[in-house]
Amino acid sequence: MESIREASQRIAKISAHLQPPNSQTEESCVLKRADCRAKRGAPGFKVAILGAAGGIGQPLAMLMKMNPLVSVLHLYDVVNTPGVTADIGHMDTGAVVRGFLGQPQLENALTGMDLVIIPAGVPRKPGMTRDDLFNINAGIVRTLCEGIAKCCRNAIVNLISNPVNSTVPIAAEVFKKAGTYDPKRLLGVTMLDVVRANTFVAEVLGLHPKEVDVPVVGGHAGVTILPLLSQVKPPSSFTPEETEYLTKRIQDGGTEVVQAKAGAGSATLSMVSQSIPFFIFIFYFHSAALITKVNYKIQT
Ligand code: NAD
Ligand code: LMR
Repeated sequence: MESIREASQRIAKISAHLQPPNSQTEESCVLKRADCRAKRGAPGFKVAILGAAGGIGQPLAMLMKMNPLVSVLHLYDVVNTPGVTADIGHMDTGAVVRGFLGQPQLENALTGMDLVIIPAGVPRKPGMTRDDLFNINAGIVRTLCEGIAKCCRNAIVNLISNPVNSTVPIAAEVFKKAGTYDPKRLLGVTMLDVVRANTFVAEVLGLHPKEVDVPVVGGHAGVTILPLLSQVKPPSSFTPEETEYLTKRIQDGGTEVVQAKAGAGSATLSMVSQSIPFFIFIFYFHSAALITKVNYKIQT
């Protein structure tokens, strides 16, 4: 008959599958990390995603794991990071992935990072404006930015959490208070407005979206989103009706998705189409110690 010890070992093995250990812990591995032949610390950028288990965070984590410029990827959230980390960590690309769960692990998640991307917080439901998210998301962003000021003061920070028009100034104030503020290193992610503008304008002109370039300036809410239709490439003219239709559709693009998802969140998948060129630009300009407004808007 099986001894109690053997039975406990079998149960421990099964539960390790049901609840895989955080990638930082190695108790259940037969081969310890220190024994592996692979050497850590390959050259490349160290990236942290805060809110990594969410609708934006998960596909973003996947893209970062696929990015050959990234050597270390830290995934932080208040829920579900062990699962997301185990999943992403099995991808056969170069970046080393580590998961961090909850506030006590925030500082470890941030230490040594070159780029911190923040999609943490709550998304809109139908009938809400982005400003309705302020009360919850402002506090979340503030706490995360306090951690950044303490643990990776030179990191580039990309703020996705809404309302971006307010969360970027909140981050700026936290960094000013900590004496770490650098406007070139704090960016509100609003590229989705450009992605939508390119798509909708291309539709009207009968072109492929990749052939169209629509500059969009301003903020990331309603009328603060300002597509410059007179500056479209290739040079194009629009009827007053087309101008009105395009301006409104671009400004209300987020609301269109929120209503269509009917309570299940806001845009997550269309965010992907901006991510690959966006982060290549970030890295390029970071390594050149220069941030420009090419391809995205600085919100400070
Ligand atoms: P989501 O609810 O799917 O994911 C948010 C994640 O943040 C969740 O996993 C949640 O656990 C986590 N989180 C909550 N509090 C946290 C904290 N204190 N620390 C760390 N993580 C925390 O939402 P989503 O669809 O991923 O959207 C996230 C945010 O991005 C929303 O505010 C949304 O409005 C915004 N958004 C911005 C853009 C843009 O273009 N800037 C586009 C789409 C969505
Ligand atoms: C978007 O533009 O899709 C995001 O800002 C999410 C939202 O609430 O509209």
